[in-house]
Amino acid sequence: MATERTFSILKPDATRRNLTGAVNAVIEAAGLRIVGQRRIRMSREQAEKFYEVHKERPFFGELVEFMTSGPVVVQVLEGENAVAKYREVMGATNPAQAAEGTIRKQFAESVGENTVHGSDSVDNAKAEIAQFFTDDQIAA
Ligand code: TYD
Repeated sequence: MATERTFSILKPDATRRNLTGAVNAVIEAAGLRIVGQRRIRMSREQAEKFYEVHKERPFFGELVEFMTSGPVVVQVLEGENAVAKYREVMGATNPAQAAEGTIRKQFAESVGENTVHGSDSVDNAKAEIAQFFTDDQIAA
């Protein structure tokens, strides 16, 4: 198995409810290491670029509104099979369908406000990390 990096966001519903430590505890318990982390306010431009793939979807406007509604924590996670592992730890997009023990099952309020983002492929992880981190902001 390969050591990989994935990109994570703790979304505004997580910062608003003071859950960043609780979510990080689940991430670390799963064996993923937080090798980069910054709390930011995402600009509209950053959010629109980040979710560009969804720009024709009916939920795009609300998604950008939500992602810019409060601070987020952007992260680089590292570990064996980090991309797939984090998707598993996050749980299904809709928390009602998320498996027991997953972050979204434990913490997410709705499909729109679902606590975390995680890259869905190694290539997307590289591009997403590069949007928010320079090499010197990551320490493994
Ligand atoms: P998506 O990439 O399908 O899910 P995931 O975050 O699990 O990779 O969707 C991106 C985000 O868009 C999702 O986390 C929340 C939002 N979204 C909605 O608000 N409504 C929807 O019906 C879907 C599919 C997504």
